[in-house]
Amino acid sequence: MGIESFVTESLTSASTSGFSLLFPILAAALAYFQYEALDNEAPPIDVPSEMLLPSYHFIVIGGGSAGAVVASRLSEIEDWNVLLLEAGGDEPEVSDVPLLAGYLQLSQLDWQYKTEAQDDACLAMENSRCNWPRGKVLGGSSVLNYMLYLRGNKRDYDIWEQQGNPGWGSHDILHYFKKSEDNQNPYLIHTPYHAKGGFLTVQEAPWHTPLAAAFVQAGQEMGYENRDINGEFQTGFMIAQGTIRRGSRCSSAKAFLRPARFRKNLHVAMHAHATKVLIHPKTKDIYGVEFVRDNKVFRVRAKNEVIVSGGSINSPQLLMLSGIGPKDHLRELGIPVIQDSKVGSNLQDHIGLGGLTFMVNQKISMVEKRLQSVQTVMQYAALGNGPLTVLGGVEGIAFINTKYANASLDFPDIELHFISGSTNSDGGRQLRKVHGLTKKFYDAVFGPINDKDTWSVIPMLLRPKSRGVIKLRSKNPFDYPLIYPNYFKETEDIATLIEGVKISVALSRTDAFKRFGSELNSHQFPGCKHIPMYTDSYWECMIRYYSATIYHPVGTCKMGPYWDPEAVVDPQLRVYGVTGLRVIDASIMPNLVSGNTNGPAIMIGEKGADMIKKYWLKWKNRYEEKVTSR
Ligand SMILES: Cc1cc2nc3c(=O)[nH]c(=O)nc-3n(C[C@H](O)[C@H](O)[C@H](O)COP(=O)(O)OP(=O)(O)OC[C@H]3O[C@@H](n4cnc5c(N)ncnc54)[C@H](O)[C@@H]3O)c2cc1C
Ligand SMILES: *[C@@H]1O[C@H](CO)[C@@H](O)[C@H](O)[C@H]1NC(C)=O
Repeated sequence: MGIESFVTESLTSASTSGFSLLFPILAAALAYFQYEALDNEAPPIDVPSEMLLPSYHFIVIGGGSAGAVVASRLSEIEDWNVLLLEAGGDEPEVSDVPLLAGYLQLSQLDWQYKTEAQDDACLAMENSRCNWPRGKVLGGSSVLNYMLYLRGNKRDYDIWEQQGNPGWGSHDILHYFKKSEDNQNPYLIHTPYHAKGGFLTVQEAPWHTPLAAAFVQAGQEMGYENRDINGEFQTGFMIAQGTIRRGSRCSSAKAFLRPARFRKNLHVAMHAHATKVLIHPKTKDIYGVEFVRDNKVFRVRAKNEVIVSGGSINSPQLLMLSGIGPKDHLRELGIPVIQDSKVGSNLQDHIGLGGLTFMVNQKISMVEKRLQSVQTVMQYAALGNGPLTVLGGVEGIAFINTKYANASLDFPDIELHFISGSTNSDGGRQLRKVHGLTKKFYDAVFGPINDKDTWSVIPMLLRPKSRGVIKLRSKNPFDYPLIYPNYFKETEDIATLIEGVKISVALSRTDAFKRFGSELNSHQFPGCKHIPMYTDSYWECMIRYYSATIYHPVGTCKMGPYWDPEAVVDPQLRVYGVTGLRVIDASIMPNLVSGNTNGPAIMIGEKGADMIKKYWLKWKNRYEEKVTSR
């Protein structure tokens, strides 16, 4: 039994029977060393339904990367009571183990979405549908993610501001990134870009394979600097920074909700699935939320505001179910239209080439079989160190320029994820399923190299031009929405990514990687064999087969000024056309940022919460001023 069955078992039952090899030891070691107790705070308390109040000042829907921050920050004001509704439960211990990140997908912690089939992407997947995992758990996707900590490029935010969103420029948002941050790497703390003392712990994995240093060195050989890619300049190579604390995952729930667990004014309701935002059809005022918990329907009133933080798939779904969305689409489904709006459009995601695998001639990569040792487990459980602390297998990150980017702008168009292993590293047991690959495809490309030492790079397109859309499947809130990512519909996207692949292959030819005998996996993709190898069309074919989402859907509740016909929320994140409703999560991004989206989602939570505080406290203060001056 391997990692995947350990994870599945520990997620589905408390049963300890049947574990073999390493993972009973992991469970026992975690219990023995009371890993949880090392944390200052225990998990948040789940409020029983009988204790729910009839009304709250603020109701936050979704306790993910952004929602956990919003609920935590709003409940800092003692006069306000806050209800946080989360469809999932609390995070288990096993999701804390960084290397096991990939194994949480397709478990009950995952909503398990899939894209609708597209005939020119995700072709290596079952029915040509890409898996779109999303966290259904307190902490949201920050519990499933690979913990990589990135902020995007300064220009991304300056563009948001230029588009008519004052207060979102790079200078303003740096304040909110730093507000959250508790960086543990001394070489970064003393720069103007990082901070200590925030709720969110950020650090390098304490342990590396020799391949991590090779990656940074290879970058230098190719003329790139080894630098803090979250600092003054983005172009360059770096050992990955992660949202981890003492070598284990620091989700946004752990960071922001645990320290707030004893606040009397914060109620956290888990397994509470919001089905509708309640809106007066005439005045268009929001007055509450309807949700389902234990098969019962609840309606709770909101005195001040409702904040939707359900993420880029669920937030547009909930708005549409509540009557805010494209009017023709809503009418078609029999949903009364409250506000016609471009909810669900403007969908953008980071897409890359998966499975670009290089063989090495030494035992230096992360082969699952070899990691199943008492030593590895003890290193992790007792010391918070060792291979299990590696961020989902990702050790290095780089931002590079293809021939289509203007290098002097420091606005790279490709990000590289460097992994000291590949799809073959678990012998086809779980990673194949997580990526949705057909068995036939896996067997042809990775079967012959099962469990062999490898490394891989996922080149990822930073600013795709293609736009997708999310639609409702029906008006049943429990039906999954339809996801159309429209990958590569714009030809520039495929052209840029092809260049990214070529640079990744060139990386393998540097001295730093040649030292380990790095050699591209010789087993070709079955659907691409008819194309001359290593031509642009060959790389294109590989991309269209093993199209790898990097799990960053955004944009479906676009932020924009009132003159932008596509905008769903204003620069204060208030939903146009109604009062008392905001969306605060990754879905508000007008353009996908040039980097991984967890850090930015947390930043959006910080800034959103601050805007709410400023708004309501200003009224309160004015009122008090009036009262006292009388
Ligand atoms: C597998 C994976 C790997 C990733 N790796 C990285 C990485 O390494 N680095 C990085 O920066 N980013 C990564 N990301 C992306 C990043 O985690 C997300 O962009 C970020 O978490 C999004 O935050 P959010 O607040 O918008 O949504 P989420 O964190 O998804 O939160 C939404 C929450 O709302 C809840 N919810 C939804 N609908 C309802 C409802 N109707 N009622 C009640 N609750 C509801 C959900 O259960 C969830 O808890 C990854 C994502 C995934 C899935
Ligand atoms: C690249 O950017 C620099 C700096 O803004 C600018 O001067 C130059 O004209 C740009 N080059 C191209 C080819 O666009």
